[in-house]
Amino acid sequence: MSAIQKIRGFQDIYGKDAKKYRYIVDTARKIFNRYNFEEIILPFLEDVSLFKRSVGEATDIVQKEMYVFTDKGGREVALRPEGTASAVRAYIENKMYAEGGYKKLFYEGAMFRYERPQAGRYRQFHQIGAEIFGVDSPMADAELIRMVKDLLDSLNIQATLEINSLGSFEDRKTYISELKNFLNEKKEFLCETCQKRIETNPLRVLDCKVEGCKEATKDAPVLIDYLSQSSKERYEKLKEYLRQLDVDFIENPRLVRGLDYYTDTVFEFTTDKIGAQGTVAAGGRYDNLVEQLGGPKTPALGFAAGIERLMLLVDELPEEQKLVVVVPINQDFNSEALKVSHKLRAENLKAETVLKEGSLKSKMKLANKLGGSFVVFVSEKLELKDMATGEQELFENVEDLIDTLKDRL
Ligand code: HAM
Repeated sequence: MSAIQKIRGFQDIYGKDAKKYRYIVDTARKIFNRYNFEEIILPFLEDVSLFKRSVGEATDIVQKEMYVFTDKGGREVALRPEGTASAVRAYIENKMYAEGGYKKLFYEGAMFRYERPQAGRYRQFHQIGAEIFGVDSPMADAELIRMVKDLLDSLNIQATLEINSLGSFEDRKTYISELKNFLNEKKEFLCETCQKRIETNPLRVLDCKVEGCKEATKDAPVLIDYLSQSSKERYEKLKEYLRQLDVDFIENPRLVRGLDYYTDTVFEFTTDKIGAQGTVAAGGRYDNLVEQLGGPKTPALGFAAGIERLMLLVDELPEEQKLVVVVPINQDFNSEALKVSHKLRAENLKAETVLKEGSLKSKMKLANKLGGSFVVFVSEKLELKDMATGEQELFENVEDLIDTLKDRL
């Protein structure tokens, strides 16, 4: 019978990669904790209209990339393509705004987008993200970005920060009509997708990677010229605060992001070390979204990082706890060996019992394969072997053995 294979764009994460995954998430948790964020564990499935109303009907995510199906109760549901919409829904549904509106949440987990898989882009991928609700001040934007930088620094990842301001929905309306006029004049030079985008999502044309589109839009009007005074001031403040916090940035007036909910600040951390999919973390402000999804008017902002992309950039893992392998020299000592391992673990030592029955030689082979730093042979006595030096030592009881191991590990 032929073996069943995993679905295209989905991955098994195991071995060293699983360690990297955990290391990244643990590091992020530590940093989020330092900034006093609380964890929220969000559902994988949501009503499809949640994403239509937040991410936006015209976006690639909603138009082409969502896993949507009808469940047995006839509801139209979607596997979450991102976490912000769910976090906002949860904030409203659980009345977190009742506590004065201020809330800082983080989440981690799988997201699903039916994109064309390539290096760094999968159909099931994982994000760690954080959202801040109820603060209007650009101090929050600066602190959030500093936190993302802390995370990248802790993981020893160098990335370039690009920032932009999209202004309010009002500012953008005027800009978009100007942009549409401009794009219509250049229509014949644009790729087929961008020709359609003129009507559906003109901002995305500025983001297009096709050379012809880049060339044709070289002199396109820039959003920053259409910002209201208050948005301009906010943007200036953000830059001042970022400098204060020692965060280097590049201003990219074309940075628009692929989700519709953003207002004012948007940002991306990118690297050129992992191919075309170089954005490792991204986010921004979404001051209208809480209200748009039925909650009270609440300014908010957040970011998410792609864990798989971070994994491609992490090469060194912290040193792991050393392993002690416990080997009963024959069946008569099986129960004693189980007890020895149990006691080692009770003392927080990392122990693996050789559970396979067989000759001592075959057990030794397995012990070697497991890569233990020490092996304990269990017979009437306990014989400790240091695998690096080959030295052996005899112990009468497990307590003495534990003392010695604690000294050496
Ligand atoms: P996003 O830019 O769509 O933003 O995704 C954030 C990050 O998730 C990307 O920068 C990338 O690292 C990773 N990512 C996205 N798609 C894939 C994929 N197909 N395969 C692997 N990694 C991927 C958001 O999702 C917003 N919710 C961020 C946010 C939070 N904005 C405000 N709050």
